[in-house]
Amino acid sequence: MITLTINGAAHEVHADPATPLLYVLRDELGLNGAKFGCGLGQCGACTVILDDRAVFSCLTPIGVLPGRRVRTIEGLGTAASPGPMQQAFITEQAAQCGYCIAGMIMRAQALLEQNPNADDAAIRAGMQPNLCRCGTQMRILRAVGRAAREMRARKQAGLPTTQEAAR
Ligand code: FES
Ligand code: FES
Repeated sequence: MITLTINGAAHEVHADPATPLLYVLRDELGLNGAKFGCGLGQCGACTVILDDRAVFSCLTPIGVLPGRRVRTIEGLGTAASPGPMQQAFITEQAAQCGYCIAGMIMRAQALLEQNPNADDAAIRAGMQPNLCRCGTQMRILRAVGRAAREMRARKQAGLPTTQEAAR
């Protein structure tokens, strides 16, 4: 049995330590935001945040996770109450098919947590590992830029930048 801490909650999982986190999220825990794209660390559709860094959950075995903190798109907000990063993607209508978007949002969230002052060049470089085959990259970049401005304003006002932080 392996205990995983996901979005602030502990989950006991009975699975081989080599099982990819993505499979456990989707198949065992019902957290379907992270998507299976390539399974090879080449597309970013499965991106989650491990401690403070964006990782490919398709390449992350659950055996390395005890004592560490995983965040998924479900931890950033809900449909009824989206977090600031999710709201920025909605406002900019950044999704076409939407398959890449949860991974994009998690990559962007980690990027701005590490570098709240990220400019356009830093955002472009930071988002490089994640691919969008629909071609909405320009909208995605606009959404991350909008989120950066809004998250800076929220921090200055003493407001949380995720729902998880608000709890
Ligand atoms: S599914 Fe993980 S990087 Fe593509
Ligand atoms: S919106 Fe379709 S892959 Fe990005």
